[in-house]
Amino acid sequence: MKRTAVLVFFLASLAVAAAQPAPLITNIANRTTISLNGRWRTIVDPYDIGQEARFFLNAKPHDPGDLVEYDFDTSPLLNVPGDWNSQRDDLLFYEGTVWYKKSFSYHKRERTRVFVYFGAAALRATVYLNGTKLGSHEGGYTPFNFEITDSVREGANFLVVEVNNRRRAEAIPSLSTDWWNYGGLTRDVLLVEEPPVFVQDYFIQLAKGSTTEIVGWIRTNGGSPSQQVTIEIPEAGIRHTVTTDPSGYAQFRFAAHLTLWSPRNPKLYRILVSGGGDRIQDDIGFRHIETRGTKIVLNGQPIFLRGISMHEEAPYRGGRAFSADDDATLLGWAKELGCNFIRLAHYPHNEGMVRLADRMGLLVWSEVPVYWGNAWTNPSTLQNAQDQLRENITRDHNRASVILWSIGNETPVLPARTEFLSKLAAEARELDPTRLITAASDRVERSAPLTRTVNDPLAEFLDVIGVNEYLGWYEGRPEDVAQAQWKTMYAKPVIISEFGAGAPYGNHGSALARWTEEYQANVYEQQIRMLRRIPFLAGMSPWLLMDFRSPRRLLPGIQDYHNRKGLISDRGQRKQAFYVLQRFYRELAQ
Ligand code: GCU
Repeated sequence: MKRTAVLVFFLASLAVAAAQPAPLITNIANRTTISLNGRWRTIVDPYDIGQEARFFLNAKPHDPGDLVEYDFDTSPLLNVPGDWNSQRDDLLFYEGTVWYKKSFSYHKRERTRVFVYFGAAALRATVYLNGTKLGSHEGGYTPFNFEITDSVREGANFLVVEVNNRRRAEAIPSLSTDWWNYGGLTRDVLLVEEPPVFVQDYFIQLAKGSTTEIVGWIRTNGGSPSQQVTIEIPEAGIRHTVTTDPSGYAQFRFAAHLTLWSPRNPKLYRILVSGGGDRIQDDIGFRHIETRGTKIVLNGQPIFLRGISMHEEAPYRGGRAFSADDDATLLGWAKELGCNFIRLAHYPHNEGMVRLADRMGLLVWSEVPVYWGNAWTNPSTLQNAQDQLRENITRDHNRASVILWSIGNETPVLPARTEFLSKLAAEARELDPTRLITAASDRVERSAPLTRTVNDPLAEFLDVIGVNEYLGWYEGRPEDVAQAQWKTMYAKPVIISEFGAGAPYGNHGSALARWTEEYQANVYEQQIRMLRRIPFLAGMSPWLLMDFRSPRRLLPGIQDYHNRKGLISDRGQRKQAFYVLQRFYRELAQ
């Protein structure tokens, strides 16, 4: 009996192990990859019959008597990357399962390992290769990969991905968000080829508290223990070799005198990391971020964050942004606005956006979608939040632009929530001791009609406190805003991470009339007058750069399922408030 139980446990643990993605391969842009992007066959499966019918086998009738009630090869096509909602009118509101299928030919080579990599799949995915399940991933905004070295065939292969964007109370995010629930293979799908031993991940940053010392670690994947791995920064005349421990992990620390990265001078160094026969390059900036009292301090100098919040909404066409053009348009607008800072709300954006911020000199607030109410006491919810946080930090921990890891947005002040988020804060510090931890809170004490006191128990676990306030829109009148008094309970920097007002582009009238561009511009004028007087304010990221789709914004002719708080319309048209903020940022920049 005992033997059987052991065997059952062993097989079960194998199944679980097979179901988990492989450790994340980072710096995918500089790896040897084969793109699987393009047109994929898709089956919309609202009643989830695909599991029972085993769509993942991609079966075909062998003789006229066979009954097969699906056929990928005569089913509709969808573009990958891309959400399905904005590709087909009949899928705009669809929440459910879509099965994707891609046939591809592969030539196997000696001493080459193969992985399949997904930039994201919203909101969860199960992946099958040639009819065999590789595993699943939960979370719509972070990458994952599976090793297929032993399962990919010479010649013809087919990949089937079951993608589901149905909202669930215990998921992250939960049931209610003020953004469109775009589903699909929303980012790149790639085959990745690696040597038997390769550099899987590395962390190379300035040591906390130093601008002349680099610390970090390297993790190799595969091969015998105790590999020699080398970090080179040729331009700085640095070459440093360390030996990995039996698990393939090696830490290092060495002196370095480098030009520091900053918004004014976004200096990136070509880095070369080699080990076990693998050699990978990256472009990394070195800067130092810390807080001093209520100041945010970059490279030893206090800096005020002139920011803007953004969703990952594609300009002009709508849907999930994913391309280099999308990223360049959005960040170009942020630069035109006079920003040195962007808040990538409310989930990790595509990696290209963060790498572009590195190159353009834009500081980044990066956020996981722990948004509004969540299943705070559900262990699997916490585990998934930690997984998404770890995947976000693992992917972007070498990006100089990222200075803030945000662990949530407008979560309710409940003991279970504060406990949940304190664990996320601890996880973020454990994964990355060099960056600042933040969250956006809308819980401020209204100690008098126009007095607001920052006082959220979550602040205890944060380095920087984000405050979302909508004086002049959701509360009070624009003309009262400028008189508002702000206090704080904490000797920590505060960022006003949201304020704003809605107006469709081209809707003009009195500044007292809701929804006019004049009303929106007046709210910005009044807010700026108020913000000037907050001594502990370290930055701001008004809500937000561009109009975006939302299932909560239903006012015909004004919203039409769009949140209109953008300074720019979803067609790229600049509203009056854009110029109000731009004037203020230009004044601050001098
Ligand atoms: C909230 C929330 C945003 C939302 C915004 C709004 O603060 O953080 O996600 O879109 O307010 O109401 O427009």
